[in-house]
Amino acid sequence: MSIQPPTDEIQGKDGQRYMLRCATPDDLQALLVIANSAHHSPWSEGIFVRELGLDISEIWVVESNQPEEEELIGSLVFWRVHDELHIQDVAVHGDAQGRGLGFGLVEMLATLGDDTEMSLMTLEVRKGNVPAINLYEKCGFERVGERKGYYSDNGEDAIIMTRILA
Ligand SMILES: CC(C)(COP(=O)(O)OP(=O)(O)OC[C@H]1O[C@@H](n2cnc3c(N)ncnc32)[C@H](O)[C@@H]1OP(=O)(O)O)[C@@H](O)C(=O)NCCC(=O)NCCS
Repeated sequence: MSIQPPTDEIQGKDGQRYMLRCATPDDLQALLVIANSAHHSPWSEGIFVRELGLDISEIWVVESNQPEEEELIGSLVFWRVHDELHIQDVAVHGDAQGRGLGFGLVEMLATLGDDTEMSLMTLEVRKGNVPAINLYEKCGFERVGERKGYYSDNGEDAIIMTRILA
């Protein structure tokens, strides 16, 4: 069953509003476009197909409000595991970064967590991914541990970050 975002829009830093909704299998190609634009090592089509079919996994997507852009410009993949929300990925298309969409997505998930009495949000992030670490720290996450050599593509360490919910 889909876990809907608490509201159907997020506000960018410039005050512009962007529609937010659950992804469907029809969004697969658009999710790949975002991933390929945002990530050095993007998820494969097979990984997105798996996530779209997993009961514990949910994907939210942000729609562009600008006609010259891709239709979808942001995505958040998370798992609900008991009373925890695990962020698997957050990605904003390269053309749309810096507008506050990553922040809006993570904060929307925190609102869902508060509304549904989840205890915490957690994630792993590459040690060298400064923009993402800054984003999570801005959203109130703290570093709670490390996983050595966690990423198989380059052996990079992961930082484990957690935000306790109310
Ligand atoms: C990380 C990411 C999702 C941020 O999305 P975004 O919409 O561009 O970020 P926002 O505009 O919401 O910025 C929120 C905060 O993130 C941090 N941040 C964002 N981009 C940054 C950059 N290039 N350098 C340093 N910090 C950055 C800042 O703290 C920023 O707050 P500020 O504007 O007050 O300085 C985006 O850069 C991205 O898609 N990166 C590639 C995918 C990725 O690494 N995902 C994380 C997987 S764990």
